[in-house]
Amino acid sequence: MNALTKTLSGLDLRTEIDRLRKERNAVILAHYYQRPELQDLADFVGDSLELSRKAAAADAEVIAFCGVKFMADTAKILSPEKIVVLPDMNAGCSLEDSCPPEKFKAFREAHPDHIALTYINCSTEVKALSDVIVTSSSAETILAQIPPEQKIIFGPDRHLGGYLNRKFGREMLLWPGVCIVHEAFSETELLKLMAQNPGAPVAAHPECPPHIIDHANYVGSTSGILSYAKNFQGQTMIVATEPHIIHQMSLAIPDKTFIGAPGADGNCNCNICPYMALNTMEKLYVSLRDLEPRIEIAEPLRLAAKKSLDAMLAMASGTVGLGDLGARPFKAMI
Ligand code: 13P
Ligand code: SF4
Repeated sequence: MNALTKTLSGLDLRTEIDRLRKERNAVILAHYYQRPELQDLADFVGDSLELSRKAAAADAEVIAFCGVKFMADTAKILSPEKIVVLPDMNAGCSLEDSCPPEKFKAFREAHPDHIALTYINCSTEVKALSDVIVTSSSAETILAQIPPEQKIIFGPDRHLGGYLNRKFGREMLLWPGVCIVHEAFSETELLKLMAQNPGAPVAAHPECPPHIIDHANYVGSTSGILSYAKNFQGQTMIVATEPHIIHQMSLAIPDKTFIGAPGADGNCNCNICPYMALNTMEKLYVSLRDLEPRIEIAEPLRLAAKKSLDAMLAMASGTVGLGDLGARPFKAMI
């Protein structure tokens, strides 16, 4: 028996987490890709942009972040005075891994006339090397504010960047990263599922490759897909994103059927994000009990990363254009 199991044996985790949440003056934030039991106990469940906004505004001493590390890092960047815990510090992201800061810096230096529009799924160091961060729900609003003649590097997700290029007729230079979860959907299996469910609309996340996006009736962020699910006409919908979001759909619209798009063998679990799945009730309990593992970011790095996140929050509300933010030729900030 390991130490964790021994410590936790016999505890009613839900009761203990509720007790600690009050004692610690903690807020529990969860992404839609978390296990249902974590979504159910969270104070707020949302997409990356909504969670960033909640973290910035949270009136709490502790943020327990049920999500992946770049999300918890974002909470700490925006709320440095708060203790931010992540139940499992190994909850990373394949997109973040695909974009080492030193290589990204070299790429920027090779294209000094480009600004860097960067997906939030990246490290704090890459945020510090970027001009404006985007999430999947804010990318279109933000890109629309950048003049067409402005040259742009978009990283690290080449599928989201490619989708934006196609939709807006842009020619952003794309960093070659992918999400291993969305990359795993199979077009052949999706076509079979569509044939078995005639008329069922397909909703896809823009992290999906083009051969999946091309079959989608709706393309958008997790919150966008959830809104689409609440409003579509019909009985059955096919969901091409991480399947834990279906939990929220079933809660909101229990009389409709939501089917997760399949991977290559038709029914594999390869579309469950292995990083998000590292967070569990046990680990959340321990993180609230011990206030560890805790996110720590050196202040100069945090301030450099905060600039590009602040630019996102301002531009996502549609009120501040890039010009107002003082777009600058690239000069390494870290
Ligand atoms: P959104 O929740 O912002 O759509 O992003 C999904 C995601 O990439 C989480 O890993
Ligand atoms: Fe990263 Fe993909 Fe997991 Fe999101 S679903 S955290 S993009 S690996």
